[in-house]
Amino acid sequence: MPAELSPMDKAKFAAARRAVDFIEDGMRVGLGTGSTAAWMVRCLGERVREEGLNIIGVPTSTRTAELARQMGIKVVSLEEAKWLDLTIDGADEFDPELNLIKGGGAALLQEKIVATASDRMIVISDASKEVAHLGAFPLPVEVTPFGWPVTRTLIEEVLSSMDVLGRETTVRMEGDQPLVTDEGNHIIDCHLNKIGNPRQLALALNQIAGVVESGLFIDICDMVIIGDADGRVEVRDINAGTVAHEKIDFAENDNIFGDLK
Ligand code: A5P
Repeated sequence: MPAELSPMDKAKFAAARRAVDFIEDGMRVGLGTGSTAAWMVRCLGERVREEGLNIIGVPTSTRTAELARQMGIKVVSLEEAKWLDLTIDGADEFDPELNLIKGGGAALLQEKIVATASDRMIVISDASKEVAHLGAFPLPVEVTPFGWPVTRTLIEEVLSSMDVLGRETTVRMEGDQPLVTDEGNHIIDCHLNKIGNPRQLALALNQIAGVVESGLFIDICDMVIIGDADGRVEVRDINAGTVAHEKIDFAENDNIFGDLK
């Protein structure tokens, strides 16, 4: 393992490495977006090359698609795959029920469509993403460009009647322009500090005409794998109600770090 890898990256790697063990030959797999998911794509690429694992991947962003192709993973669209066996993705926050905030990387729409078109979703994370209540991370809401300032006002109106601790919203920018997502939309970040009822908030936001989707993932995630910088991983399965503690051997994965050079 390269010495320059940060403890955070080692933790993300450990979670990602454990998660790809759940991928079996012949599976159709949703490939998440973000720095943790990128480790997963590298680990999966290693299995494809070394073991001849025969899978197809459906990426959740153009950047994940690019990385997956570079790693030798066969990439298809969700239309082609139709349905997926498993999606593995990162998250910005997860709570004890495995409800999530996602979209820090602006890919929440494709991520949610892919995750909900999968039999199972596994979230991979370092310990910093675990929270008692969602909301410290700003909640991204994807909105159509048409009339977006009106949609923002309506989001603020909805927030005024919700059980949240903050109500400020900001428009995600790229340079001096509102950021444009892969689906051609904008992102409004909601600074809520604490969300008392994530399910109610998700439903209320989705009632607004200009809202495409929020970054609240409710009842979608089945398992979380939490990595630690020393290789320890915790595997929590919400359906089975089990928690397992295991360890990843970094030395066995030197090929993957070789890819980075
Ligand atoms: C991308 O839109 C997000 O949902 C990511 O999954 C999330 O931001 C986690 O990213 P990191 O793994 O980089 O923290």
